[in-house]
Amino acid sequence: MIPTLAPLPSRLPDSVPFVGPETLERQRGASFAARLGANENGFGPSPRAVAAIQAAAAEVWKYGDPTSHDLRAAIAVHCGVTPDHVVVGEGIDGLLGLAVRLMVGEGAKVVTSEGGYPTFDFHVAGFGGTLVRVPYAGDRQDPAALVARAAQTGARMVYLCNPDNPMGGWHAPEAIEAAVAALPPDILLILDEAYAEFAPALPRIDPDDPRILRMRTFSKAYAMAGARIGWAIGAPAVIRAFDRVRNHFGVNRIAQAGALAALGDRAHLAGAVARVVAARDRIAAIARDNGLSALPSATNFVAVDCGGDGDLARAVLAGLAERGVFVRMPWVAPQNRCIRISCGPDAELDALAAALPDALAAARR
Ligand SMILES: Cc1ncc(COP(=O)(O)O)c(C=O)c1O
Repeated sequence: MIPTLAPLPSRLPDSVPFVGPETLERQRGASFAARLGANENGFGPSPRAVAAIQAAAAEVWKYGDPTSHDLRAAIAVHCGVTPDHVVVGEGIDGLLGLAVRLMVGEGAKVVTSEGGYPTFDFHVAGFGGTLVRVPYAGDRQDPAALVARAAQTGARMVYLCNPDNPMGGWHAPEAIEAAVAALPPDILLILDEAYAEFAPALPRIDPDDPRILRMRTFSKAYAMAGARIGWAIGAPAVIRAFDRVRNHFGVNRIAQAGALAALGDRAHLAGAVARVVAARDRIAAIARDNGLSALPSATNFVAVDCGGDGDLARAVLAGLAERGVFVRMPWVAPQNRCIRISCGPDAELDALAAALPDALAAARR
């Protein structure tokens, strides 16, 4: 017997959007040799960020600046907006939860892609929204169809991830800009750009447009996933609304210091992107060596088509895990014919190359 939950959470299933690699390691009784499943950046953060984090550690007795003033100022310069256009939060995941809380009441419709980023769905369910799902088109999210469905259903919010997780595809700026042009005035578009730094080009969006929130993170290109820090850009009135619901001291001061230093190290960022591009090529080559094909990617991971259905891909994933290689896979058909392999250092890709032939053979038996 537990105290009675409020009506909304009492109706929710016991679920977590992702099972972490640490849990999987505890279950298998051994650590992974290659951690290539969570789209982290194993090439590591800027040494300047690490030094700033170390320096901030001794000051951890202080709360962080609840306004993230200095970091917001630096992000504003970096993105060509004003600090009033920027809110800093506990990663995109935290900001997604706040945005949904602000905009989605019980029963409100929210449009997303079938098989899109599940943490977003988790937040919508948690605030009582009703998800309307639009299928992928040719292994990519479909911006025009997402916006059209939002308009048809009278949705409050539409979620688009570009470049996309889990398939890694991206849309040219014109496709996103056309979807924005078609967006009705009272619908908020969440443009999740977690992988923006890896994209060949990004759309031009008016930062004063109240219909759009762009979300970015220090978790991917900046390799600071464990710091839990990201930002959103939007019209100042929309950004101000976050103050009504956010956890004002939720962004910790060590992350603030690290993020500020990371943002200042453009050379490290360029190097990180180059290392990711090389790792993507190597993953594609490993796939080819095994008779598999890699999908084009504008992210720090590669979806590899295992050439069968979801059961085959699941068996390959399980075979890789047994052999010490942690990867993940898309969650719905037909995208779940793939496994999703994050970019990482050569030693980890060596482990992947060594394990994949046997994992494939075992899966096909
Ligand atoms: C599309 C997308 N959005 C958000 C996130 C999480 O970002 P953060 O670490 O900033 O919460 C991820 C991480 O995998 C992602 O793939």
